[in-house]
Amino acid sequence: MHIKTAVVSGLAVAVQVSAKASCKARFDYTSIEHIEVGVRPYWLIDEMKDSPLKEQLRECASIDEFKASPWNLGHRGGATLFIPEHSLESNLAGARMGSGALECDVAFTKDRELVCRHSQCDLHYTTDIVTRPELNAKCTVPFQPASDGRPAQAKCCTSDITVDEFKTLCARMEGANNQATTPEEYLLGTPSWRTELYGTCGKVLTHKEHIQLTDELGLIFAPELKTPEVEMPFEGDYTQEDYAQQIADDYRELGIDPSRVFLQSFLYDDVLYWVQNDPDFGPQAVFLDSVGETAETMPAAIANLTSYVADGVNIVAPPLFYLVTVGEDGTIVPSEYAIQAKALGLDIIAWSLERSGIIGATGGGYYFSTISDVITRDGDVFELLHVLAQDVGIIGIFTDWSATVTYYANCFGLA
Ligand SMILES: *[C@@H]1O[C@H](CO)[C@@H](O)[C@H](O)[C@H]1NC(C)=O
Repeated sequence: MHIKTAVVSGLAVAVQVSAKASCKARFDYTSIEHIEVGVRPYWLIDEMKDSPLKEQLRECASIDEFKASPWNLGHRGGATLFIPEHSLESNLAGARMGSGALECDVAFTKDRELVCRHSQCDLHYTTDIVTRPELNAKCTVPFQPASDGRPAQAKCCTSDITVDEFKTLCARMEGANNQATTPEEYLLGTPSWRTELYGTCGKVLTHKEHIQLTDELGLIFAPELKTPEVEMPFEGDYTQEDYAQQIADDYRELGIDPSRVFLQSFLYDDVLYWVQNDPDFGPQAVFLDSVGETAETMPAAIANLTSYVADGVNIVAPPLFYLVTVGEDGTIVPSEYAIQAKALGLDIIAWSLERSGIIGATGGGYYFSTISDVITRDGDVFELLHVLAQDVGIIGIFTDWSATVTYYANCFGLA
C-alpha cells in the first residue's frame, strides 16, 4: 500500500479524536460509542464467488471493535444508499458506520451562504420544496403538473432562496416522479432498491453546520465546490474566485486546521485557484477528473495527468471505472490511467461505491463500465475494492454505504 505519509498522518491524527463529544454536542443525536457495520458487509461476502479474498473477509468476522477509517469517505454523508443525501441523518449514519471523512457538496444561496447540496439546482428532487407554495413560487421553474403527455416540470436552485428559507426544507431521497399531477406525487421517484423509510424530513445542513458536525465527530472534511448552474459572476459581482475562496474561508473562520480539509472540484480552474492562491488548502486540493468518460477520451485523460503534476496538483479523483480494466486472465487489474497516475506520484481517491443498486443483475452500470463483463454478482464489489486498495493503492474511496468500506478497511489494515 502506497500512501503519502503527509496525507495519512493528517488523516490519522484527526480521526483519533473519536466521537464521544455528546456532552457539548451542537446537534441532537445519540452519541456514537462504537462503529457499527450492520448486516450488509456479511451479506455481500456471502454473495461472493469462492476465493482466497472471500476467506480472508470471512475471517475478519471475528473483529471485535471496528474503527473509523479516513480511507473511507462518506459520499454525500456516507449513508446515501438509504438515507437522504447531505442530511444530518446521512452524515451521522455514515460516521456511525465508520466514515473517517464526510462530504458536503457546496452550493450558494441567494444571500451567498454555502449549503450542502449535490447540485445548485437539485432542490426540486432532493427536498420537499415543491410542496411549500411560498418557496415553490421562488423556484427558477415552479412545479408544473404532468398533462397531455407532457412530463411534470420543476427547477429549484439554492440561489433562488435565502439560507433561512433553505433551512426550513426537509431533505428527501433523490428522485422525482415526472408523471406527477401534484407536488406530493412529484416527490415519489425513489428507485425500488433504495427506500423512503428514512426520507420523512431529513435535516438539511449549511456548509458551516457540516463543518461543526464533522469537527464535533473528530473527522476529516471532504467538501466539493459544485459547478454553478447560474451565470457567474452571480448578480454581477460574485465571481467564481469569490466562491472558491469562500469555501476555504468557512474553515478558517471556524478554526479548522487545513490539513484536515480536502477541497474538491470538477472545474480544473477552481483547483488551480487553490493551488496558486491558497498555500494552506492548495496542497490537498483534489481534481475530480471527468475527462476520460469514454474509450475515445481516456487517452486525453491519461495524457493530461502529466500537466496536473506540472501545475502542482497532488490528488486526482476519477470515477471507479477509470482505475481498472479486465486483464488477459479475466480478472480486474489496474488500468493505464491508474498506472500512469501512480508513476507520476499522484495520489488517487476513487468515487463512488454502493451507488449502483443491484450490480449482479446489471453489470453495475456507469461506475463499473470498464469491468462490466466480469461483474456477475453483488459480492464482486469486494473484488473491485481489493484491486483498488492493493494494486492501485488509492488513498481513499467515496461510498454511499460506509459500512462496506469500513469492513474491508478494518480487515486489511487500512483503519
Ligand atoms: C485534457 O485534455 C483535453 C484534450 O487534450 C483538453 O482539451 C483539456 O483541456 C484537458 N483538460 C484539463 C483539465 O487539462
